[in-house]
Amino acid sequence: MSHKMRDLISLDGVSAAEITAILDLAALQKRDPESYLSRPVLRGKAVGLFFEKASLRTRLSFEVAVAQLGGTSLYVGQEAGRIGEREAIVDMAKSASRYLDAFVLRTFKDETIIEMARHATKPVINGLSDKQHPCQILADLQTIRERLGRIDKIKVAFIGDSNNVCRSLAHALPKFGSQLLVASPHGYTFAPGFVKSSGITQVAAPLDAVKDADVVYTDTWTSMGQENEAHKRRAMFQDYQINAALMAHAPKAIFMHCLPAHRGDECTDEVIDGPQSVVYDQAENRLHAQRALLTLLVS
Ligand code: CP
Ligand code: NVA
Repeated sequence: MSHKMRDLISLDGVSAAEITAILDLAALQKRDPESYLSRPVLRGKAVGLFFEKASLRTRLSFEVAVAQLGGTSLYVGQEAGRIGEREAIVDMAKSASRYLDAFVLRTFKDETIIEMARHATKPVINGLSDKQHPCQILADLQTIRERLGRIDKIKVAFIGDSNNVCRSLAHALPKFGSQLLVASPHGYTFAPGFVKSSGITQVAAPLDAVKDADVVYTDTWTSMGQENEAHKRRAMFQDYQINAALMAHAPKAIFMHCLPAHRGDECTDEVIDGPQSVVYDQAENRLHAQRALLTLLVS
């Protein structure tokens, strides 16, 4: 690595070499727990989790990772009011930097995380924002590497909303020479400028994406913060469900979902519970990828 990564706000500015270094350490730590238990790099250190939105996996996996590295995690729920409402982000960042050794934020606006990182003197990690979910994609890349043996020159089909998860996939996959084909309904696609600059391919129909795919990925049709659009979205996304009929066109692919899933909407039980599904490996790898990330950023 040419420089030490300070924050993880987006995978956009992270190189393939940096991602690979995180994945290599994650794999090593997963294989050999003694490698981190014998050298608890967060001993005496504290990580604050500031979450504006609900979470199961992100919260638990970060809290467990911090504990396994010998540190303390502090959950600072922000569900009652957004970060920056009670006091300016600058004051929060500068105060909390005096106690904490890292921040994990889950926010609505990406700008909240950017502003915190601007003023914090400690690393800031994006634990999901409206536009990105970089920690999820680190775990997903680890899962793909475990299952397919590589993350380069693969073909990933994303069916559904062009949302935070899909955008972070778009930031990462082209760096490895891998293809991302995205099938979203009209009105729920990325802006043409983003499609062009990121090097991904927008296709019209799910069938156009899944042919010869190594990975078929989906996410909820209605993300956190969009609940008042749920009815309309369910109607718009009807033809974008991952079901057995669609998976029959991608017999060699693994099925991925970041979870939480809405069974019967974006995917059926037979797919998420079926032999192609790796969704719980993805969930497990959140722990390993984030433990490695914390090791590299905080120690
Ligand atoms: N995939 C994911 O981030 O799950 P949570 O919302 O439960 O943290
Ligand atoms: N797109 C989903 C991901 C949840 C992990 C959301 O933002 O709600």
